[in-house]
Amino acid sequence: MYALAIETSCDETAVAVLQFGENGLPVVSAELVASQSEVHRDYGGVVPELASREHLRNLPLLLDEVFRKSGIGVQNLALIGVTRGPGLKGCLLIGLGMAQGLSLAWNVPLVGVNHIEGHLYSALLSNPQLEFPFLALVISGGHTEIHEVHGIGSYKLVARTIDDAAGEAFDKSAHLLGFLYPGGPALAELADQTGRSRFKLPRVMRESEGFSFSGLKTAISQLVRDQKANLGDGQLRGELAFAAQEAIVDALLFKLRQAVKRSGISTVTVSGGVSANRFLRAKLAAEKGMNVCFPEFRHCVDNAAMIGLVAVERFRRGERIAAGAGVLSRWPVDSMQPPCAP
Ligand code: KG4
Ligand code: ZN
Repeated sequence: MYALAIETSCDETAVAVLQFGENGLPVVSAELVASQSEVHRDYGGVVPELASREHLRNLPLLLDEVFRKSGIGVQNLALIGVTRGPGLKGCLLIGLGMAQGLSLAWNVPLVGVNHIEGHLYSALLSNPQLEFPFLALVISGGHTEIHEVHGIGSYKLVARTIDDAAGEAFDKSAHLLGFLYPGGPALAELADQTGRSRFKLPRVMRESEGFSFSGLKTAISQLVRDQKANLGDGQLRGELAFAAQEAIVDALLFKLRQAVKRSGISTVTVSGGVSANRFLRAKLAAEKGMNVCFPEFRHCVDNAAMIGLVAVERFRRGERIAAGAGVLSRWPVDSMQPPCAP
């Protein structure tokens, strides 16, 4: 049996075809992503209207291509899985509208998937030995949260950001240092090349339950303003980048250690674009008492394979999206329930 998965919650249009049986993990037959970062670069962030238009243009092309690449036809499909939320409303509507249309036209059942639930499961795609319960840290441009994962639809929120996401903290710091959006990877590269800093940024909100990066952003902008006259000095700019990266990574590690200690769960998965950060990966590898597991890079960032994985799991347990159901641009994953029949 095969599942078609569609993801359009933010600025990546993604599709995948997965093969699955009665039990066991599905296997990805083909997957494609069309990234829009070029489209949004000049605006310094994702422009929702432009993102929707790109999805509308790219999704039909990707769908044709993923059928061609996987070698299957509509007659082989047992289900369609689509991201229903959370995300940008207009973007979600393009994906859900397309999926609802195809489901009706082809008479194939449809399952609506929570995007964050996809991230929580993404490490399973390349680590099938992963066992419940585990802690999942999701760090991207839009999300920063830790959950205990006990099984499908069974999550306990441990910490979530109360303001900026970790990726936003990277991108805003990078912007202050003159990098184009999304500047996180470029800032990280400069920081890694520099390897040290004379500056030490404050570590904020350590004792509270949630993550917070807004204080850090203020501190970095203050520091950059103080050093404005010296920003032409490559070494100094590198040290500012290092200080920013170190402060963001420290905040993530602090909460993660706290979560491991409080929950007694030592297996941790890390996903979302920021999980590509090498400094963070090196620190995590050196952590004692933590068994850290990453998805493959293409499954760390937004992708449709993770949406297909969750859709298959929920489909097997009888879940279908109600006819005429709308998108859920706000949909906390910890409010989800185990799968249920319609
Ligand atoms: O999950 P993702 O690809 O997309 C969404 O947020 O939708 O995450 C993108 C975020 C951006 O903020 C980007 O700057 C950040 O992940 N990012 C990084 C690195 N690679 C991507 N941040 C720090 N270091 C990196 N190596
Ligand atoms: Zn995401």
